[in-house]
Amino acid sequence: MSEPINSSSKEKHATNFRQIFRDVLANVLEQSIATGDIKISLDEIPGLLEQVRETADSKFGDFTATLAMSLAKKLGVKPRDLASELILRINQHQLFEKKFEPISAPIGPGFINVRVRDQALAEGLRIACLDSQLGVPKVTQPQTIVLDYSSPNVAKPMHVGHIRSTVIGDAISRILRFRGHIVITDNHLGDWGTQFGMILWGWKRCRDETAYRETPTQELGRLYRLVRKVVDSDPKELAQDSIAAGLAEKYPNARREVLAETAKLHEGDSENRRLWEQFMPVCREEIERIYGRLDVAFDHTMGESFYQPLLAGVVKDLTSSGIARESRGAVGVFLDGYESPLLVQKADGAFLYATTDLATLAWRAEHWKPDRILYIVDHRQSQHFQQVFATARAWGCRSDEQLSKTDLVHVAFGTVLGEDGKPFKTRVGDAVGLEALLDEGVERAGRVVGEGEQARQGMNDAKRQEVAEAVGIGAIKYADLSQNRTTDYVFSFDKMLELKGNTAAYMQYAVARVEGIVNRGGVDRKLLHQEISKDSSILKFSDPLERRLALTVLKFGAVLEDVEIDYRPNVMTSWLYELASCFSSFYDALSVLKAEGSQRTTRLVLCDLTGRTLRQGMELLSIRVPNQM
Ligand code: ARG
Repeated sequence: MSEPINSSSKEKHATNFRQIFRDVLANVLEQSIATGDIKISLDEIPGLLEQVRETADSKFGDFTATLAMSLAKKLGVKPRDLASELILRINQHQLFEKKFEPISAPIGPGFINVRVRDQALAEGLRIACLDSQLGVPKVTQPQTIVLDYSSPNVAKPMHVGHIRSTVIGDAISRILRFRGHIVITDNHLGDWGTQFGMILWGWKRCRDETAYRETPTQELGRLYRLVRKVVDSDPKELAQDSIAAGLAEKYPNARREVLAETAKLHEGDSENRRLWEQFMPVCREEIERIYGRLDVAFDHTMGESFYQPLLAGVVKDLTSSGIARESRGAVGVFLDGYESPLLVQKADGAFLYATTDLATLAWRAEHWKPDRILYIVDHRQSQHFQQVFATARAWGCRSDEQLSKTDLVHVAFGTVLGEDGKPFKTRVGDAVGLEALLDEGVERAGRVVGEGEQARQGMNDAKRQEVAEAVGIGAIKYADLSQNRTTDYVFSFDKMLELKGNTAAYMQYAVARVEGIVNRGGVDRKLLHQEISKDSSILKFSDPLERRLALTVLKFGAVLEDVEIDYRPNVMTSWLYELASCFSSFYDALSVLKAEGSQRTTRLVLCDLTGRTLRQGMELLSIRVPNQM
């Protein structure tokens, strides 16, 4: 055998025991409905099948179904009686017999429990181990899914808040691709907003040419921050910045003038347009550098400016189809259930953020024909998206069939907080620059990396720097992904760089440990795979820790399925943590290299598959895993 192959979906199905158990139950329910023993409709089966979980305690088997309880209530029978009847039918199933050992009487009030047969578990390991997708099947009906994420407003410095959208969006896109969907990623850059008015105004009055030549992005950033202070004219801020205070005094109409600069740009004023074209590549370079460090790349970066020629048409279309109407000179969409309308054009003729979003939606529907579009954006924009989606639905129903078929989802996330519980900021009140944050993470990781035992055994400086980069940036990403995305979370370098616990470093260590075993034992992975390529009967479980590790590593497919249901990467991190912990207990208690015969093969296969699965899992979260730590 050469490289691992992509085994057939049917075969891979044999690795997802939760799914197999569900299929068996579905079969049994269908039969019971057909014979008239259970009077429910077929549509109710999927809901019932959701009630399959892993057992909390292995003495009750590996999986449990609680559906007999809810179903009995509905049918007016005793849950235990119903459970017994279903178990009886399960026992008659030949197919089922081979994979599971049903626990023959209901447990407690009516749980139906099963234990995976060792032979089936061994076969699952064999299939996953030989497969390039590690036993994860591709979805049978792939969808085209557009992901709108990262999407910073250029010319403003990127800050820690942007990392959430970037990291969550990147992980979800990789996971959906791995599952076999057709994924299109689009960085919807804010490249047309009022921030350009500030920069243009500042450029014309107080630019520093020398500074711009040397470090253009910094100079544009300085202008942006300076002019924002002038425009905001907050006495406290002005008191701390004499240059801003001087400008505020000299230009009392600054705010209006800044707006006028933006308006001129939007109307096609040649000077402002030329400057915008000059600034854009500079701004892009800055964010590209950050994306490079984060290993993030997009299929498209269209940006808001791309849609500008379409906006007038959108407003016209919405108005003529009766979805939008004029009100006091402005044009808005008045939807039931919202206090304020969704404005698509201001009284002065300017278009808004929502107008661009609607134009973008129509464009994407027409050109990409997506089944779904996901917007990975801060929860503070949820009202905006609710209104945009509702408008799009109304619009789609009237005039755009493709649009009406597209599923629109706002994948919202909470705020990053400092250890004081307030939005994460530095002492001077500016949000922390993203790049400085990455640097600090890498620098701190460098100290941790130096502590490892293997590090002392010959890692040169370049290697160490590479590992520090992987550990530091991985830590920041992982800390973000392991949070429930909808809640706010506290950013803490100390916690995220801990070597124990649910951190990137812990997973990276676990992989390095597996590599260590493989190296020390001089294990040839190809030969190992060859040994099990035809037959899994050589794999034997002699200890409960082996079984537990096997069951845990084979949950990969089910976990990815769960991530997709609600777009929660933290489902994945929880499982990675469970897997790494399981491996740690296994490895601490049992010897691998000193074992012999089928015991050695079984343990090596478990190590190999666990290491590769952890690595693949981390890759799907876009976290690098060094071979050595
Ligand atoms: N640029 C916006 C911001 O920074 C986010 C854009 C999100 N995507 C969208 N299609 N509206 O707030």
